[in-house]
Amino acid sequence: MPSRKLATARTVGVYLVGGLGDIATTLLVGACAIRRGLASRTGLVTDLPPLDALGLIEPAALRFGGADIRPGTPLEAAGAVYRASRTFSRELLDGVRDDLAQLAPAFAHDPALQWSTACAPGDPPLAEIAARLRARLRAFAQAHDGLVVVNLASADAAPAPSACTTDLDALEAALAGNRKDLITPAMLAMHCALMEGHPYVNFTPNAGPELPSLRALAQARRVPHCGNDAKTGETLVKTALAPMFAWRNLRVLSWEGVNLLGNNDGRMLAEPQRRAAKLRNKRDVLEKLLGYPLHSDVAINYVPSLGDWKTAWDLIHFQGFLDVPMTMQFTWQGCDSVLAAPLVLDMVRLADLARRRGEAGAMRHLACFFKNPIDVDEAALHAQFALLLAYARDRAAPRAAGRRGIRRDPSPSAG
Ligand SMILES: NC(=O)c1ccc[n+]([C@@H]2O[C@H](COP(=O)([O-])OP(=O)(O)OC[C@H]3O[C@@H](n4cnc5c(N)ncnc54)[C@H](O)[C@@H]3O)[C@@H](O)[C@H]2O)c1
Repeated sequence: MPSRKLATARTVGVYLVGGLGDIATTLLVGACAIRRGLASRTGLVTDLPPLDALGLIEPAALRFGGADIRPGTPLEAAGAVYRASRTFSRELLDGVRDDLAQLAPAFAHDPALQWSTACAPGDPPLAEIAARLRARLRAFAQAHDGLVVVNLASADAAPAPSACTTDLDALEAALAGNRKDLITPAMLAMHCALMEGHPYVNFTPNAGPELPSLRALAQARRVPHCGNDAKTGETLVKTALAPMFAWRNLRVLSWEGVNLLGNNDGRMLAEPQRRAAKLRNKRDVLEKLLGYPLHSDVAINYVPSLGDWKTAWDLIHFQGFLDVPMTMQFTWQGCDSVLAAPLVLDMVRLADLARRRGEAGAMRHLACFFKNPIDVDEAALHAQFALLLAYARDRAAPRAAGRRGIRRDPSPSAG
């Protein structure tokens, strides 16, 4: 039965920009552990019905590669995550040690992928950096039946305002003209992914999928993409909880949040320029959900001893009948990378499906995964999740055929 054989042999490459970071490392450990039957699939949204009837690529059929600006291997990175945070057990790490060791050749050390605003003499020009990245993507893609590029790199400063963000020709000209002051590393990563025809997932708050210049390229190349800034902790709770206040007609006066985190992401976000986009994404959501301005401040404090274990404390001051003030507080304590890693698998599986179905542009149905989703104004988690369910229901294959493949009917472009 050749078609059956082909279906099971299908592999999809996942190219991780920022491939040695905490999320990437936890993802690799998790994917290897799932493949070996050492870990459950708890946390995978795509295992829920009706998403499980979409014929998505199995996590065991994903093959990982990537690049990072720091040297090292996935195995070394996993050892570092274990020592810093005990995100996974020693037993689990030992169980996937050989698999991680084998991944080393697929991960490039490329310090040129990060730059500051101006080009120093001797630095490779943007066109050369892009050519190298594209060559790596091409080689990786050739070995598989599809490729998804995921940006898991550190939070960056926003791009300087310029026509590069709005106009594709201006972006191409700036790339050719080595304008490192106008093009951010994340913009370049997305540009390379799209030029090579691969779906792009922006897990970070960095600029990319929302920019009209890159969106024009995605449409021209017929490639799906999604972003920005995955919703894994405090904002996830906010977008589930704020509708409750709205539906009971309780007036929220203030919603203050303090985030304490000790991983490298926390260290990077300690820099005001880098955290600006993250803070905006966390703040804007409340006004959208409640429909009126309120006092809301969000702090992000770097506390090294916490490692990857994040604490978010939120205080909600609200008014009820007779204007009586009341307070709700919650404390969210989670392991950042454990919350994030399964979402990467979910988005990769769905991006691969979108690509196979010929869908292009913003993957609106993935809004529930992001703090700042593209082209979706709806901020409430339940309504965003309904978009995902509707997408899945519309495309789910009948159960009997579900695991064998996908429906062949053409689908509308996501725009
Ligand atoms: N953990 C979460 O729950 C969560 C939620 C939403 C968004 N994010 C975002 O996801 C990203 C990754 O988070 P993390 O905790 O793994 O961070 P991390 O700091 O552990 O990893 C980032 C990795 O990216 C590398 N890097 C930096 N700039 C690069 C570039 N230009 N090209 C290639 N590699 C580069 C770093 O060397 C590092 O290894 C961050 O932008 C973070 O803000 C995380």
